[in-house]
Amino acid sequence: MSTAKRIAVIPGDGIGKEVIPQAVHVLKATGADLQFTHFDWGADRYLADETTVPPDGFAMLARDFNAILVGAFGDPRVPSNIHAKEILLGMRFKMDLYANVRPVRLMDAALCPLKGVEPKDVDFVVIRENTEGVYGDVGGVFKQGTADEVAIQEDINTRKGVERILRYAFQYCRSNKKLDHSPRRRVLMCDKSNAMTHAGGLWQRVFQEISVDYPQVEMQHMYVDALCMQMVRDPRSFDVIVTNNMFGDIITDLAAGLQGGLGMAASGSLHPGKTCMFEPVHGSAPPIAGKNIANPFGAILTAAMMLAYLGITDQAEKIEAAVLEAVRQKKATADIGGSLGTREAGDWVANFVSAS
Ligand code: NAD
Ligand code: IPM
Ligand code: MN
Repeated sequence: MSTAKRIAVIPGDGIGKEVIPQAVHVLKATGADLQFTHFDWGADRYLADETTVPPDGFAMLARDFNAILVGAFGDPRVPSNIHAKEILLGMRFKMDLYANVRPVRLMDAALCPLKGVEPKDVDFVVIRENTEGVYGDVGGVFKQGTADEVAIQEDINTRKGVERILRYAFQYCRSNKKLDHSPRRRVLMCDKSNAMTHAGGLWQRVFQEISVDYPQVEMQHMYVDALCMQMVRDPRSFDVIVTNNMFGDIITDLAAGLQGGLGMAASGSLHPGKTCMFEPVHGSAPPIAGKNIANPFGAILTAAMMLAYLGITDQAEKIEAAVLEAVRQKKATADIGGSLGTREAGDWVANFVSAS
């Protein structure tokens, strides 16, 4: 029986269709024993035959694959964004991938818009709850189209959901080191419990309760507004941040700004023991799509995260080292100061990986 890891590849829309092929190219250059199967789920398929996810699609992914590598979903021809909701949020919710892990690392001081900030100063991770919150699509509209219209969007926070994401953060802190090999020490819970008291109260209580199981981990708390200010003033203090679905979405775009922009940010949507999904933080970026200018490094670093998760750590490290070298030598796209196209930057990294 083959021992190859089976990877489902879903590039999606816009720049997803440009950066994911580069990520696959680099994965192939590692020589790791991987078997790729491509899926055309996205706006084109939806516009052609109204399929978002084929029947049994999620069960098939969970059954037949070791991991899923995803690009981005969003296309101006589908203003309802229904396909993105059904495919992307569908995978996160229906496959119960509850922990969206978004590492924030600065590879080169030149990429950070803040003065005097070095790579060693930006090495934290955001653990975003990925299956609840305001993303659950619970709510409705009443008296639509009238002056009395009411729109309700509920914020779902379950004891089980809050506890498992907070435990994930504590465990992540305990078992992951920083890039300089020093231990991680602190879990910061970010919420808005001063205004959203019902949900915030649950998060606060569970945070206190489960912290007794992790006495070696320092607990911190910040309201999300203050955290945004601190991220821009001085990101050095952050280590592991855990937060709900919506705050996690917002603060990881802000954090991507520290890394050199959305083109540099990687993520994984995880549930230990299940088939997990790996997705760059950025979207489909319609205005730059099809021009060979999108930065493929976020997708390539996402592929490295996937390899590490699958236990192929030596090859994952090779990819990260190659991207770091490309960034330093500006063998990169224009958004991070290079002059290469998407394909050429991907080729450079793939060649570096093959030669290393
Ligand atoms: P976006 O991430 O697509 O783009 C935001 C900005 O970052 C734009 O200026 C874009 O040019 C730039 N950017 C993003 N990725 C880049 C890259 N790899 N290289 C260089 N520049 C890059 O966010 P948006 O504009 O808010 O959304 C566009 C579409 O993508 C929408 O339909 C949105 O819903 C969707 N979206 C999808 C995902 C996903 O599928 N994971 C994530 C975010 C947004
Ligand atoms: C992300 C994206 C998605 C989210 C959108 C496309 C629904 O912004 O992955 O960060 O909000 O989770
Ligand atoms: Mn987002």
